Amino acid sequence: MCGIVGYVGRKPVANLLIEGLKRLEYRGYDSAGIAVVTEKGLKVGRSVGRVRVLEELVQTTGGFEGFLGIAHTRWATHGSPSERNAHPHRGTSRKGDTIAVVHNGIIENYVALKKYLTDKGHVFESETDTEVLAKLIAELYDGNLEHAVQSALREVTGAYAIAVISDHEPHTLVCARKGSPLIIGIAENAYVIASDPSAIIAHTTQVLTLDDYQVARLCAGAADRASGEPWAVEFRTTTIDNVPVSRDVQELELDLQQIELGGYDHFMLKEIMEQPESIRNCLRGRIDQREAKVVLGGLNKLVRDLVRAKRFLLTAQGTAYHAGLIGEYLLQDLAKIPAQCEYASEFRYRNPIIEDGTVAVAVSQSGETADTLAALREAKERGATAIGVVNVVGSTIARDTDAGVYLHVGPEIGVASTKAFVGQVTVLTLIALYLGKRRFLSDDVVRAYLTELEKMPEHIRRVLEHSDMIHDSVARHVHRNNWLFLGRGYNYPVALEGALKLKEISYIHAEGMPAAEMKHGPIALIDEGMPVVFVATRGSQYDKVISNIQEVRARGGRVLAVATEGDDHIHQYADAVFPVPDVPEPLQPIVTVIPLQLVAYHAAVLRGLDVDKPRNLAKSVTVE
Ligand code: AGP
Ligand code: GLU
Repeated sequence: MCGIVGYVGRKPVANLLIEGLKRLEYRGYDSAGIAVVTEKGLKVGRSVGRVRVLEELVQTTGGFEGFLGIAHTRWATHGSPSERNAHPHRGTSRKGDTIAVVHNGIIENYVALKKYLTDKGHVFESETDTEVLAKLIAELYDGNLEHAVQSALREVTGAYAIAVISDHEPHTLVCARKGSPLIIGIAENAYVIASDPSAIIAHTTQVLTLDDYQVARLCAGAADRASGEPWAVEFRTTTIDNVPVSRDVQELELDLQQIELGGYDHFMLKEIMEQPESIRNCLRGRIDQREAKVVLGGLNKLVRDLVRAKRFLLTAQGTAYHAGLIGEYLLQDLAKIPAQCEYASEFRYRNPIIEDGTVAVAVSQSGETADTLAALREAKERGATAIGVVNVVGSTIARDTDAGVYLHVGPEIGVASTKAFVGQVTVLTLIALYLGKRRFLSDDVVRAYLTELEKMPEHIRRVLEHSDMIHDSVARHVHRNNWLFLGRGYNYPVALEGALKLKEISYIHAEGMPAAEMKHGPIALIDEGMPVVFVATRGSQYDKVISNIQEVRARGGRVLAVATEGDDHIHQYADAVFPVPDVPEPLQPIVTVIPLQLVAYHAAVLRGLDVDKPRNLAKSVTVE
């Protein structure tokens, strides 16, 4: 989710907000906007693309003179990137006051709120979930912005960090948060708010934060408008139920460079470490335990075609291909639908036979991979129904599908895909359960899987705690130039992904394959100079994997094993054991890939390489 900046004080606000948005650019976004309370009312500017496009718009159109304003960089979740979907979004109160809102997060119950507000006469202009907030606050506004925001947030479910202003209250900025970060800077005669400290540190190091379900009203202005004196600043923090809460002012210690990475050394590490949160966002609003069902609104219009499908054809490249392979196993296992995953670059040129009832699934983080897009179009031309599993909302692949499910894991900056892979696997698991429920799975079985899925953020967090131990294990082998990654069943594609991660950021040659395949040739490679990483978690093929490990050990190979927590048996065979929580086999890839992401990351750092910009690689391969 993306970026918010707000200001109320004595300085001209427009340039200050634009500079704040520039501080947030590194987070990745698709559009931007600004709203300023001016002498002539509330002035709004919005644009697609870089912040400098918005800056040029503000400079050329003018009319943004004021001392109270909010601004936003958008990472679209609902509604493609466009000027009309960009924030701020506006609402008009019964008395004609204008309310402007910027929002990070997802409003889960926006459809119901949109209907309620439309029935009340509000006219919506955008496809976003955020616009319901602006209209709801306007509907509830009776001259007290703080109270209107509190009342509106009591009706909302989802995640939000918001900033709200009104042309009726030219000295007041109201902000609130639940599940999305927001920081309030206490500057000289002013307040600055932002979703990230990098947009605040230029103004002050005195900050306060809000907890979930808390609201802050920030006022800065002169008792005498003409003289501008005496100048007063005052803030108030409450719950959304208007219960006052006290918040301590803290000293912001991080330096700017650190802040832009959230304190991490690399975006890849930041994105690995934020996977509990990104998977929480991916699952948000999609699990209905009471009905034992998966909620995927984006697929509803095709549900009959999907449930009756004769075959699913998944297509992708690279890491997304590995996720698609797991999707193949999931669809056959949980939905009993024939499925296969193919490299897009191969599929499109082999004169594929597409029989009636085929569903093509394009898996892609960027939504712009040329081969994947071409394969999707080839499948559609041959009669397939096309769905997408994509991260970037409004991307070309997303727009070319008949329906789809967005990852909602936020922008992925690191070239090596990590949180997007886990998001793709999570969404494919949801799709398999969504179909399985409508085909053969009992409510109890679905509910059991959904319960396990809801634990995934915590499971991932537990695995991430082993990062230092994984670093030390990797350090003992990082000088080796050839590694093997082996797994069976659901963990075979995980082995492929582990090998790719190591290759692409540490430049160590690595190969992934089914553990059983090793005996059909590659075992000739095994000696003490060949680290072999096994994904050896408990499951239907555990004993066979242990046999494979023993075959490697018998030839002097060094074994690093991803294993189930509490498995004391495997320690006798492995030089290093990376424990993961015990989860059902279909869900194991979500946790077993995490140690392999860290193996690759630490190897690259130990080799002194540029983790976020590996040589020869691009984040999105938009050429064939
Ligand atoms: C992943 O670490 C790689 N950077 C690369 O294999 C990537 O997964 C592949 O290019 C597909 O990209 P997409 O998911 O954006 O389609
Ligand atoms: N869900 C909102 C939208 O799609 C906010 C997205 C964001 O966090 O940038 O506009």
